[in-house]
Amino acid sequence: MSVTKPLPHDAAPLHVTGQARYIDDIPTPRGTLHLAFGLSAVAHGEIVALDLSAVRAAPGVVAVLAAEDFDTVPDVSPSIHDEPLLADGAVHYVGQPVFLVVADSHLAARKAARLGKVDYRELPALLTIDDALAADSHFEDGPVIWAKGDAAQAIEKAAHVVEGSFEIGGQEHFYLESQAALALPQEGGDMVVHSSSQHPTEIQHKVAEALEVPMNAVRVEVRRMGGGFGGKESQGNALAVACALAARATGRPCKMRYDRDDDMTITGKRHDFRIDYRCGFDADGRVQGIEFLQLARCGWAQDLSLPVADRAMLHADNAYHLPDIRIESHRLRTNTQSATAYRGFGGPQGMIGIERVMDHVAHAVGRDPLEVRRLNFYDECPEAAGLSAPPSPPESIPAKKKWQTTPYQMPVEDFILHGLTARLEETAEYRARRQAVDDWNAASAVLKKGLALTPVKFGISFTLTHLNQAGALVHVYQDGSIHMNHGGTEMGQGLFQKVAQVAAAAFGVDVGRVKITATDTGKVPNTSATAASSGSDLNGMAVKAACDTIRERMAGFLAERHQVSPAEVFFENSRVFVGDADYGFDEVAAMVYQARVSLSATGFYATPKITWDRVKGQGRPFYYFAYGAALTEVVIDTLTGENRILRADILHDAGASLNPALDRGQVEGGYVQGAGWLTTEELVWDDTGRLRTHAPSTYKIPACSDRPRVFNVDLWDGENREETIYRSKAAGEPPFMLGISAFLALSDAVAACGDGTVYPALDAPATPERVLAAVKRVRGDV
Ligand code: MTE
Ligand code: MOS
Repeated sequence: MSVTKPLPHDAAPLHVTGQARYIDDIPTPRGTLHLAFGLSAVAHGEIVALDLSAVRAAPGVVAVLAAEDFDTVPDVSPSIHDEPLLADGAVHYVGQPVFLVVADSHLAARKAARLGKVDYRELPALLTIDDALAADSHFEDGPVIWAKGDAAQAIEKAAHVVEGSFEIGGQEHFYLESQAALALPQEGGDMVVHSSSQHPTEIQHKVAEALEVPMNAVRVEVRRMGGGFGGKESQGNALAVACALAARATGRPCKMRYDRDDDMTITGKRHDFRIDYRCGFDADGRVQGIEFLQLARCGWAQDLSLPVADRAMLHADNAYHLPDIRIESHRLRTNTQSATAYRGFGGPQGMIGIERVMDHVAHAVGRDPLEVRRLNFYDECPEAAGLSAPPSPPESIPAKKKWQTTPYQMPVEDFILHGLTARLEETAEYRARRQAVDDWNAASAVLKKGLALTPVKFGISFTLTHLNQAGALVHVYQDGSIHMNHGGTEMGQGLFQKVAQVAAAAFGVDVGRVKITATDTGKVPNTSATAASSGSDLNGMAVKAACDTIRERMAGFLAERHQVSPAEVFFENSRVFVGDADYGFDEVAAMVYQARVSLSATGFYATPKITWDRVKGQGRPFYYFAYGAALTEVVIDTLTGENRILRADILHDAGASLNPALDRGQVEGGYVQGAGWLTTEELVWDDTGRLRTHAPSTYKIPACSDRPRVFNVDLWDGENREETIYRSKAAGEPPFMLGISAFLALSDAVAACGDGTVYPALDAPATPERVLAAVKRVRGDV
């Protein structure tokens, strides 16, 4: 069967030979125009005067647009219509688009965009979490609070308490292909848009809204993105809308791509957080009560901040049963880029909060952090523990709840981390290496090593329940070749190949027979963003449904012809077996066509079992959980704070993997990206609100040389307890959070510098400066 095979990415040869087409590679008609935005130079202010005469007079400029050119400025927000395409009287961050230049070349547009003269009446800008708190600048009416039990009382009663405040930096997506769009005007006012977007339907919706046409007048196509990582769920709207408006105004094709510096200056990033915690626990380190205050810096517009902050709350437990818990979440409005989706969608921030607490608790009770983690783990799922059913209480004892529940009251029925971490502990030789690290540290004055083994439990499904649906369109042509289309988008994660494998398996043919085609709103409508890691879960099922329909028609036709039941028709090795006869798959396609039976079908899937009340913070927002664990070893230089990841061992749960090679790629890439977030990637805004780290020269993503020298990645061999596509699990985001082990390994190395009395309390990212400061802190040397 073609599912479960470690096939390479379908476009790998195109990627490595440079033939893969991204937006900027699509051949454009003569006369195509190019766009650039003129940007706000201040973080907050009113526009008093706008003089664009020099822009208009610049060489190659065809048109210039500003807010005053519209009755109502088109909106590009994915949520509450609070993002005018061009600043409408006021600016809210440095980098906000103020005017739009349309020119005959990319360079001419960019040069002209520098010539705008904008007079501002500057207003006080809220830049930091503290600024926003002081000004009570919130989205929604105020904080969101979810609670289970009575945390304050449990903490009160606990033998020990730790508390702390933890800064967690944001993260630039740094997709290799920057944001881009191309709009091609059609007859009768219709528009075709090519966009580098994870969400073609949202592009279609926003373009239709801006052009004031129905959605059926706009068709959006996305063949692939050069990376998205959540940064192309909503941030591509502005470019697509700008291109469509300019294309309509000029009657010519219009293209826009952000230069890297502009991309970093204009677009939103991962939300930075501050998490305050107070945790009560017993002498062994078992948590009894815990309170989290999560402060998220959301930037100037709402974008996806509410669901992102929700997901941070939903991962405040990670792998641990926390009986009494209170989580208070503030979504703070500031005069900075509007923070947006980024791999994990708030989950990583919530998760690192509790991992930090586990580390702090272990330090306080003087135990190995892995022991404290295990002590607090949820109960193992009985199947995973080798039992056939959940242990049922004897008749005499009042029925106890069978499953432990999360802070949002969802039973955790599929927990496998006891077994998974035990396996990793063994294969990665945690005990022996812990001893070796201790020995090293005792003998080494300058270089100190650290180790950390951290788990991941990540919820799979969109928390907005209606998004958990997908459609597909499959055709079998009369020569037996197959055309596959679905609503998911390809951003390098390998979704298209996985889903093609599903289609090939359904027809019993080789995957090469399945043509992978660009995502197209004209083929499959009303799609959700390819996000929340649910691409293969949703689209795999939808494609399978479409293929099953066609296969059943083919089988029905042959069964009748051979007077057997359709169940006796088999599709295997590109042949179809019926009774004593067998045919080539292509022969059958031709026969079925001749018999006037349709060889085309749509498929649809909606995730079962989920319910969620976000106001109460209760329900089953997730169909299932994906799990994993990582052990990282680092070394730090205590004189400079510089550090290296020496080794990482990972065991990750992709269920019965649809494609172990692609999933392994997701695990490796996710880990490195997660470690980058927490170590080298530092975003710096100056006190006027200008992002100073807006290019690779100042913003340090991990390079090849930053990956662990020894990198052992394995997939767990279990299958999904839920009936997902071939019992696989989503693998896009969960591995990102394995990078937390790199951060806590650094903390462990820092802890080894002191006498053990002071907790390192390292903030993220753990840059050399921060590591050095923490070393001084634990040495009482500040
Ligand atoms: N992998 C690559 N190579 N490029 C990407 O942009 N995005 C991540 C993840 N892995 C991404 C990636 C994010 S944020 C998500 S939500 C998932 O892929 C989306 O794809 P999936 O649902 O098919 O896993
Ligand atoms: Mo991923 S952050 O859900 O696009």
